[in-house]
Amino acid sequence: MKVTVSAPANIAFLKYWGARDLSLAIPENASLSMTLEKARATTSLSWHPAQTNGVSDHILLRDAQGTPAPAPPPFAARMVEHLRRMKQAFGRTGHFEITTGNNFPTGAGLASSAAGFAALAFGVAKLWDLPQDPQSLSVLARDSGSGSATRSVLGGYVRWPDPPKESAAGARSIFPAEHWELHDVIALVETGEKSVSSLEGHRRATTSLHFPARQEHLDARREGMERALLERDFSALAPLIEEEAIELHLIAMSSRPPIFYWNPGTLEVIHRVRALRAEGVSAAFTMDAGANVHVICESSSKRDVVSALQGLASVSGIFEDHVGTGPRVEATE
Ligand code: DP6
Repeated sequence: MKVTVSAPANIAFLKYWGARDLSLAIPENASLSMTLEKARATTSLSWHPAQTNGVSDHILLRDAQGTPAPAPPPFAARMVEHLRRMKQAFGRTGHFEITTGNNFPTGAGLASSAAGFAALAFGVAKLWDLPQDPQSLSVLARDSGSGSATRSVLGGYVRWPDPPKESAAGARSIFPAEHWELHDVIALVETGEKSVSSLEGHRRATTSLHFPARQEHLDARREGMERALLERDFSALAPLIEEEAIELHLIAMSSRPPIFYWNPGTLEVIHRVRALRAEGVSAAFTMDAGANVHVICESSSKRDVVSALQGLASVSGIFEDHVGTGPRVEATE
């Protein structure tokens, strides 16, 4: 059997940064994200159960034109390792043939591994007919080592871990996509690979003198965000999203050795968003571990946000997305 699935990226309002166990993606703190709709990884998988010695999983990566080519070794190795863990956990032997690709720039702070590993876990769950409740699916995705993938298997607004104090728990969608149509207008100020991986960022996070102070107020910030989401109160949500984004980068910049994900374009977008707000347009900026800026806004502000960002010298492209419903099966053969 062959299955083609797709899974979206997500944007964290409250960031996963720092891990108790990095290889298993057991986080230091609970995170909260919005699952996107359009930015997706699409993955075709076929499973060959016969144990043929020496045949390993075969991973192809589609390029921007959609043509499959052997995946770069570090990328393929990470996928093969996730497959190995899943085979071990479910007592399976055999090998996979996999072709995957994203419709957005890889490795630029747009959660490409979240979408990719969520699609992989979702596809394997379909092929093997594994339990597909939120906890099971999200833990299966988390076993890739990509924490953000844990959230991308679910739609809407997602909290991970859930319950928030149980660090080994999976994720839960706390509000469905229909609850509130928020948009993410992504301003691309850098499309190359970022220089320091999220993995390395998590590793260094605890070396920041500000890391312990961050942990002290995260619960209150999360509760504030959850209340704002519940009440669809953008003016309460916006400052919380922004202070969290600034803090993530404060931790990165004060890690030892320091990490600078921002570039001058990042700051140009931040200033423009602040000016927009002063003009009465409700929008909030956030960045993951990269230079690109996600501008979160309501439907009524989207047009103003897009046209303001289009006018900026450092913005080379704009990707318009919105809250989405999670992974889906695209085709079965
Ligand atoms: C800053 O370990 O999930 O995006 O596997 O590379 O996607 P990747 O990173 P991961 O760390 C994500 C870090 C973050 C914040 C977040 O998404 O919560």
